[in-house]
Amino acid sequence: MVVKGTLIHTPVLGEVETIKHALVTIDDSGQISSIRSPGTASYDEEIIAASSAGQLFELGANQYLLPGLVDLHIHAPQWPQVGTALHLPLYDWLQQCTFPLEAKYDDLGFARQNYESLVDNLLANGTTTATCYGTIHLEATKLLAEICLDRGQRAVIGKIAMDNRQECPDFYRDKSTTSGLDGTRALIEHIRNLPGNEDGRVLPAVTPRFIPGCTDEMLEGLGSIADEYNCHVQTHCSESDWEHDYVIERHGVNDTQSLDRFQLLTDKTVLAHSNLISDEDMSTIKTRASGIAHCPLSNVYFSNAVFPARRALDRGLKVGLGTDISGGPSPSILHNCQASVNSSRMLEEGVDPTVRRGERGTPNSRIDYLEAFWMATVGGAETLGLKVGRFEEGYSFDAMVIDRNVADTNLQGLDDFQSGEDALQKIIYNAERRNIANVWVQGRMVKGS
Ligand code: GUN
Ligand code: FE
Repeated sequence: MVVKGTLIHTPVLGEVETIKHALVTIDDSGQISSIRSPGTASYDEEIIAASSAGQLFELGANQYLLPGLVDLHIHAPQWPQVGTALHLPLYDWLQQCTFPLEAKYDDLGFARQNYESLVDNLLANGTTTATCYGTIHLEATKLLAEICLDRGQRAVIGKIAMDNRQECPDFYRDKSTTSGLDGTRALIEHIRNLPGNEDGRVLPAVTPRFIPGCTDEMLEGLGSIADEYNCHVQTHCSESDWEHDYVIERHGVNDTQSLDRFQLLTDKTVLAHSNLISDEDMSTIKTRASGIAHCPLSNVYFSNAVFPARRALDRGLKVGLGTDISGGPSPSILHNCQASVNSSRMLEEGVDPTVRRGERGTPNSRIDYLEAFWMATVGGAETLGLKVGRFEEGYSFDAMVIDRNVADTNLQGLDDFQSGEDALQKIIYNAERRNIANVWVQGRMVKGS
């Protein structure tokens, strides 16, 4: 297949590349085999050949080809709760709302209905890679992986491990440490051996929910499994005051240092939130080549602080974006792009009007929309070690078409703008799911026609 149209992406942090009338050639395995600009060798011949073979997909006027979005942090079972239950602090929210909801996923009918709906909505919002926590239930989490594979969703998926009797209720806890570890192994094996998953479009992850939810024995066992299988790891890290202080109290160190002791910081680890990490923690995360899932909308409600995105990016840490469904109220990574810019600006300026100008904020904290979009694509991809998130030879064709020509849209005036910068900024702030006309994962069209 050859896709022809104006392409916009951010392969380098803080920079945009726009190619008008680009020709992106995709091979049978869904990889990009070439990208041509008008006037380069065999550009015209390629169009004629693709067109006569019925293999040319041509974007219309006011349509733009962008990379698909990478969501680094989703709680798949919390989908029915999205946009509600945001009035409680983290501990109460977990105990009163979230654990009771997640416990319902021992019912596979309930799981199927909600997981299918989630995946359909993620793809409709342009999320081509979904990094998901399941529940403690092995069978329901296997089902989530199968639904992702079936619908074409690229995904990283883990069975949640949580066995600590002090922090997890009787109705929602791994039966024992051993059963949690066995279930983790079983899910990894199941996903790796799923028929149709030979190219690894769905990948398994070791998933300690967070340190408070796990015994030391569980954390140690999960570190060994991550090493044995060389698979992804996902967990929460220094998210809120309560959680961060709990870990200091129990282990005498910050989450980052504790996770490191249990071999849970690898180059395939995704640390959700990490709002309260210290400079030392940042150094450790960088040394281990782990990455951070910045979840700016969720952080408004649960974290008690703004993640220092500027500092993390300046230090060269891998940072991507997460919706944290349902800690964050929206399934849209574009909404989280906006929120990451907004919260960084508020961190920089400060928020208390009774404090004098100049003393109100934290200088040099802002990020801009280009850096937000980089996190939403390249940063997420690099954190997961996946060749997606930009248009480049050898990368998978995970992409979306943003369409201006739809009824009743907020995306106005795009055609008046010549630069890719302006187009991208407008898209980030005003494109909604109705403007996402087509989505492909690994060259397979999963939205539109
Ligand atoms: N910490 C432990 N579990 C969760 C969860 O489900 N959501 C968020 N935001 N933080 C958590
Ligand atoms: Fe979370």
